[in-house]
Amino acid sequence: MMLTMKINKMNLEHKNKSYMIDNVSCKEIANNFGTPCFVYSEEAISGSFKKIKDIFCTEKRDVYYSVKANSNLTILKLLLNLGSGFDIVSMGELDRVLKIGADPKKIVYSGVGKSEKDIERSIKIGIHCINVESIEELKRISMIASKLKINAPVAIRVNPNIDPGSHEYIATGLNSTKFGINLNNMMDAFSFAHTEDFINLIGIDYHIGSQIETLEPFIEAVTSVAKIIKQLKSNQIDLQLIDMGGGLGITYKNNNVPSIREYGEAINKAIKDNNLEDYNIILELGRSLVGNAGYLLTKVEYIKKDSEKNYVIVDAGMDNLIRPALYDAWHNISCINVNKDAEEILCDVVGPVCECADFLGKDRKLSVQQNDILVISSCGAYASSMSSNYNSRPRPAEIIIKKGQAVIISRKEEISDLYSREIII
Ligand SMILES: Cc1ncc(COP(=O)(O)O)c(C=O)c1O
Repeated sequence: MMLTMKINKMNLEHKNKSYMIDNVSCKEIANNFGTPCFVYSEEAISGSFKKIKDIFCTEKRDVYYSVKANSNLTILKLLLNLGSGFDIVSMGELDRVLKIGADPKKIVYSGVGKSEKDIERSIKIGIHCINVESIEELKRISMIASKLKINAPVAIRVNPNIDPGSHEYIATGLNSTKFGINLNNMMDAFSFAHTEDFINLIGIDYHIGSQIETLEPFIEAVTSVAKIIKQLKSNQIDLQLIDMGGGLGITYKNNNVPSIREYGEAINKAIKDNNLEDYNIILELGRSLVGNAGYLLTKVEYIKKDSEKNYVIVDAGMDNLIRPALYDAWHNISCINVNKDAEEILCDVVGPVCECADFLGKDRKLSVQQNDILVISSCGAYASSMSSNYNSRPRPAEIIIKKGQAVIISRKEEISDLYSREIII
């Protein structure tokens, strides 16, 4: 009899004593591609995108995937083919989306530190919109656009001072952060943009934070922006575009989050309730499209029991997945060889990096033995894209499961890649 159990409602299944991602065995993937490695489910990514597309997208409403969540070219291409636009924050991200054939008219550019070169390039390629984060940036854009004699399309990113209830490092819509222009100064920014010759003020933008687990902050933000739009109208400033940012959370543990459907419906309702239906609207989702579609496979190198705690030392570390160290984030960890007679131990799952912050999970109960493979869930967003080479460790391979086949979409780095830019003098 086939025993099947869905884990965390994701694409990971415990089936016939083995762990499978979209019917491909994790053990096989680990054997074929080595560990650590990231594994993504194409089905899960397209499923999430199609859900928001069905509920939200129309001629006037688009989803622009936030590239920072996971910038692998195959994932970008998959989303492009499904109809996504892109939200970028650097020239590196711009190059990636241009490389996969994205139309600059479906790219928005956010970020607080755009250089003169960055601005010039984005104006020249005909980007859809620059989301402006300060009056100083606006002045710089105006100066560059006048020199180029090309109108620069801009939206003003406002900071509506709304608490999204997420970790302080990702609560971007509060006045205490560097993001957006606060409500006291935003009128000056809109007036300046409205009167400058080479600035084409097309919209208003906000992004209040990430891993938001309730709908209220999203609705509060729409209401707040509707008031600003009214105020602008009374000052003869008319906009066409509202960029509502991203931020929808995902399930990591047993946290309840609104589904993509519930989120899309709530946004649609808020748009209607606030009479914003005539505007072009963009959502910049990242995590909710890819987060639960990815896994990190890692091998147990040692089980160390001679300290105050038990340590399961694995071959992935904070260089591959920094979220536990940075945000105290919790990721589900399952051991593949669950049918062996290993005793269950209470342990910290840690990496080989020389930092006390190098942990992937604390106080976990695992039946685990040396050389077992662990599957770390919810590693599709802000995992590979936030990885580093700390301790001169090469970045792992990335694999996608496409129609029942495991396909490599990023090779493991060679150690020589790590110093290929360096010059010995
Ligand atoms: C400007 C902007 N837009 C969109 C996003 C995507 O957010 P999320 O991945 O939570 O949907 C971010 C990430 O924090 C962001 O900074």
